Amino acid sequence: MVRIGENEKRILEAALNGLKNAYVLWGFSVGVAVLGQDGKVYEGCNVESWISGLGTCAERCAINHAVLHGNRKIDKIAIVMDKNSQADPKPCGACLQYISDFAKNPKIEIVMAKAEKGRILSETVEVKTLEELLPLPFHKNK
Ligand code: THU
Repeated sequence: MVRIGENEKRILEAALNGLKNAYVLWGFSVGVAVLGQDGKVYEGCNVESWISGLGTCAERCAINHAVLHGNRKIDKIAIVMDKNSQADPKPCGACLQYISDFAKNPKIEIVMAKAEKGRILSETVEVKTLEELLPLPFHKNK
């Protein structure tokens, strides 16, 4: 089990709040929250469309929420999915690239957890750095 600090707790609770608002038509619910450079937490949820490519993942929703409030860099991100979901909580490849585009640095933490009955299951919390999950991000040459 991973030891979690105050900021991890804050983003996990906000991600849980995002999870409640997920708009699901054919998939499953995902809740995300990011810690912006302003120290505030911005949550997001996946929003589906019957035209599958039109929907958005919860990670991109949360990052866009942070950008809307003036944050162009994020310090941390949490992803929460229900314990009985069809997949485990982790960002898809496209979202890893998007996280990388807005991450303060490649060492930011990605906190992943399962939830049950509206609560985070602390024994499921996993923390990885962005560079562990995406060692070779695409970026423009300086
Ligand atoms: N989804 C996310 O929100 N984040 C991910 O990183 C992977 C997948 C959503 C998209 C879709 O609404 C549902 O999960 C099933 O793929």
